[in-house]
Amino acid sequence: MVGRRGLIAAAAVVLVVGAAAADGHRQNRRREHGRKGSSEHAVPAVDNPAYQEACGACHFPLQPALLPSRSWRLLMAETRDHFDQALDLEAAQMAEIEAYLTANAAEKTPGALAQEIMESLGSSTPLRVTDVPVIRDEHRRLDPTVFERSSVAGRADCPACHPGATAGIYDGAEIPSR
Ligand code: HEC
Ligand code: HEC
Repeated sequence: MVGRRGLIAAAAVVLVVGAAAADGHRQNRRREHGRKGSSEHAVPAVDNPAYQEACGACHFPLQPALLPSRSWRLLMAETRDHFDQALDLEAAQMAEIEAYLTANAAEKTPGALAQEIMESLGSSTPLRVTDVPVIRDEHRRLDPTVFERSSVAGRADCPACHPGATAGIYDGAEIPSR
């Protein structure tokens, strides 16, 4: 346990660019939940091919448990103006994707990360995972310019820094040097 704690502390110091000091509360939280083989900050991986294909065409397909169903509904209602892009999806495809996203949304998913997301939202309905307060908060100590590095396609490019992101695992991060 002491060895692992040391490792986590060392990793945090290396990873948190520009951080002044490790945050004691978070270290404790990780120690309690950070057993080998388990992950505190994880959500189920994407397992719907229609979603993967249609919504992974331009960017990382964010797991449904990263937003509440009310956010996914709003996003799916506005596909003609999706962050200034028009999404070209057939009605049946849209219905399948919306059903998948809402059935597996944050409030339907057990686990600490989905629960923290719901708690941090209050009554808000963000269209961006990167606007979810707890997700913003987890990255507040990073130098904002790390999200502008050439190998990072913005704040929502989770796999650029989280090697387990495609599997839904957000414990552990490595900021690319360029
Ligand atoms: C034609 C390209 C394209 C496709 C296809 C696409 N998106 Fe996007 N998406 C974008 C762009 C552009 C942004 C905004 C990027 C930015 O400004 O950071 C975005 C942003 C998002 C965000 C917010 C990310 C964040 O947290 O900042 C979500 C959620 C999202 N898309 C969901 C979807 C879903 C669901 C689908 C499938 C129905 C989809 N996208 C398909 C282009 C696309
Ligand atoms: C530029 C790199 C970068 C990107 C992009 C990024 N993260 Fe992170 N993330 C980090 C770093 C570094 C940490 C660790 C921060 C710390 O320890 O204070 C972190 C921490 C987290 C944590 C807390 C994990 C823990 O063990 O405490 C979660 C959850 C998380 N990120 C989710 C996401 C999600 C979801 C996305 C995409 C929407 C994302 N991150 C995008 C670098 C990134």
